[in-house]
Amino acid sequence: MTTTTEPTLTTVEQIFHEGRSARAWSTQPVDDALVRRVYDTVRWGPTLMNTSPLRLLLVRSPEARERLVSHMAEGNRERVRSAPLAVVVAADADFHEHLDALVPHVPGARDRFADEATRARIAREQAWLQAGYLVVGLRSEGLDVGPMSGMDAAGIDADLLGGTAWHSLMVLNLGYPAAEEAAFPRAPRLEFDAAAAVA
Ligand SMILES: Cc1cc2nc3c(=O)[nH]c(=O)nc-3n(C[C@H](O)[C@H](O)[C@H](O)COP(=O)(O)O)c2cc1C
Repeated sequence: MTTTTEPTLTTVEQIFHEGRSARAWSTQPVDDALVRRVYDTVRWGPTLMNTSPLRLLLVRSPEARERLVSHMAEGNRERVRSAPLAVVVAADADFHEHLDALVPHVPGARDRFADEATRARIAREQAWLQAGYLVVGLRSEGLDVGPMSGMDAAGIDADLLGGTAWHSLMVLNLGYPAAEEAAFPRAPRLEFDAAAAVA
């Protein structure tokens, strides 16, 4: 282990038992620096061949926020508008361009991803995996995270991610906990025996 801080049971409790999909936040702002710090940690989570296709757009300006709101499903709009920070989580279909640096131990790694359709699929799969790490990392910093994919992803891509090969997967609304619990009553999860088998 090379971690500087040992995870504690409290951290695990905070992330998985206490952490909810937030629907309201306090007015305390969320700095870019905090998101940067979380990214700097979660980027070390494993991906296929270290492809690392996760990309983030921090939607900071009121003008960009309104554009993002306009692409959200009706029932999601007010939360995207009111969250202290909204982040578009995306997959970079041109992730192969970074592979000379990211995969120095496999010469010519980028050539393995020459096929566009395969690359698009791997970008989505691996960025989703990294998105999970990101949610966990953000929660471990005490942030309340509200994930949403009820949106016109193609509209977001054209409007906010134009000129890139980034494809939006979901929006994360971020903030600090609201005074009042706003989440729905907790829904159950599958028991181990329903979700796992031993062969
Ligand atoms: C990828 C993803 C997409 C989601 N999309 C929406 C959404 O569009 N609107 C919404 O209100 N909640 C959305 N949710 C929230 C889920 O419904 C919520 O995480 C789940 O019910 C568990 O809730 P809990 O964390 O409070 O236990 C989404 C969650 C994830 C992870």
